[in-house]
Amino acid sequence: MGKEKLQRIDKVLAASGYGSRKEVKKLIKEGQVYVNGHLVNDAGFQVNPFVDEITVAGQKLKYHENIYIMMNKPEGVISSTRDAKDITVIDLLEGEYSHRNLFPVGRLDKDAQGLILLTDDGKLAHRLLSPKNRVEKTYYVEVDGKLDDSDIKAFAEGIPLEDFTTLPAKLDILESGDISSCYVTICEGKFHQIKRMMKARGKEVIFLKRLSIGGLKLDEDLSPGSWRELTEDEISLLDTSIH
Ligand code: URA
Repeated sequence: MGKEKLQRIDKVLAASGYGSRKEVKKLIKEGQVYVNGHLVNDAGFQVNPFVDEITVAGQKLKYHENIYIMMNKPEGVISSTRDAKDITVIDLLEGEYSHRNLFPVGRLDKDAQGLILLTDDGKLAHRLLSPKNRVEKTYYVEVDGKLDDSDIKAFAEGIPLEDFTTLPAKLDILESGDISSCYVTICEGKFHQIKRMMKARGKEVIFLKRLSIGGLKLDEDLSPGSWRELTEDEISLLDTSIH
């Protein structure tokens, strides 16, 4: 949406986390909303949220057209919006964001953990996920089995799976033994991709954590299940990850 476009005040407030359209109408009715110093009592009042000064209960509203959240997804939580049976990443967000249509960008398996991006910016999500943009994702992985140079070579050459051959991927071995650990960087996001790549090499993934998406790194201060909004710099980093 263009920055010059006028919008209804109730829509702007709802999109900024002040509640449902019904709840923000109540705030307006109660006389809590001012635009450029003038009391507004019409929910359909037109504003330009990028230009007009909007206050709610005396607090200045800082308008963001889109929301970008990084979450450290814990194991056991699924990366969809709603599910009848399992807890989803959206369930972990508190009420503040419940009126934004946030969705996870890409998937992480239920038993995997780490960085997941939640947004309502469909355009950015599409660009990050589009296979032609080859956005790199790095994972810390532990496998049952010994990793060696032949695995590095196979990852670099692309591994034939049942339905496709993977694009060249990077394998950095950290420790090699009965249980091995490594970093894996892939620029695709196919179903169970790393598990399938490792299986093709005779190894089973026993731990999987996503550390980065393009230039965006997981904030290690976020414990599993916690989240925060991205900084302006992090939003630009994501944007510049797309070639
Ligand atoms: N590869 C997998 O196997 N699972 C994920 O969740 C992500 C990459």
